[in-house]
Amino acid sequence: MLLDIGCGSGLSGETLTEHGHHWIGCDISESMLDVALERETEGDLLLADMGEGLGLRPGVIDGAISISAVQWLCNADKSSHEPRLRLKAFFGSLYRCLARGARAVLQFYADNVKQTEMLVSFAMNAGFAGGVVVDWPHSSKARKSYLVLTCGAPSVHTSLPKAKGQDGQMCSSDDDDDDDDESNDDQTVSSFLTIQFSWFIHFELIYCSKSPSLVCCFIP
Ligand SMILES: C[S@@+](CC[C@H](N)C(=O)[O-])C[C@H]1O[C@@H](n2cnc3c(N)ncnc32)[C@H](O)[C@@H]1O
Repeated sequence: MLLDIGCGSGLSGETLTEHGHHWIGCDISESMLDVALERETEGDLLLADMGEGLGLRPGVIDGAISISAVQWLCNADKSSHEPRLRLKAFFGSLYRCLARGARAVLQFYADNVKQTEMLVSFAMNAGFAGGVVVDWPHSSKARKSYLVLTCGAPSVHTSLPKAKGQDGQMCSSDDDDDDDDESNDDQTVSSFLTIQFSWFIHFELIYCSKSPSLVCCFIP
């Protein structure tokens, strides 16, 4: 059983169905879930704000995906929202509902490096091993960042997938603009090599200027 966090109208869940998986989708938006119902998606749908915790029983989920949703936790959209508390509730509940050794791949768009750091550090504090993989790092249009997490201590199975386009090849959807946007988070990240978050958590960002695919690994 897989979980699609921020499932929206069920487009991402449909891909799970096509690959033979059963899934549960959760979303904060009732209207998006109504569209998913109208589209008769196969997944079970849950109206839930991930920032309040997922509310699922421990160990019942075998894997999780999320497309462009978790970055919203870094913002305070309401006066009552405290991003740090919401990130803690989300990653803690995600860790608990996943079976040990399960994986979660969360694609996100961060506004800046601080948001990426927040996502990574709260995931680590919840107990996840893993890191950030950036596909098409040269492309301002196709670049995509993924938090790739494994539930439990790092092992030989914790290795991160290779990012697409990291050898400098361009994505077909990209025109010719590999002129990198100075404001994007990956450029900013390049100025960091190693960040020590606390005495027991070591967070490393590895950045190679010749092949600017970013991979950051963390070891709880
Ligand atoms: C860009 S859409 C992606 C929808 C779907 N995953 C897809 O690929 O088509 C992001 C979704 O995240 C949902 N979302 C945003 N904040 C959320 C939260 N705090 N809890 C649950 N879902 C949230 C939005 O309602 C929206 O449906």
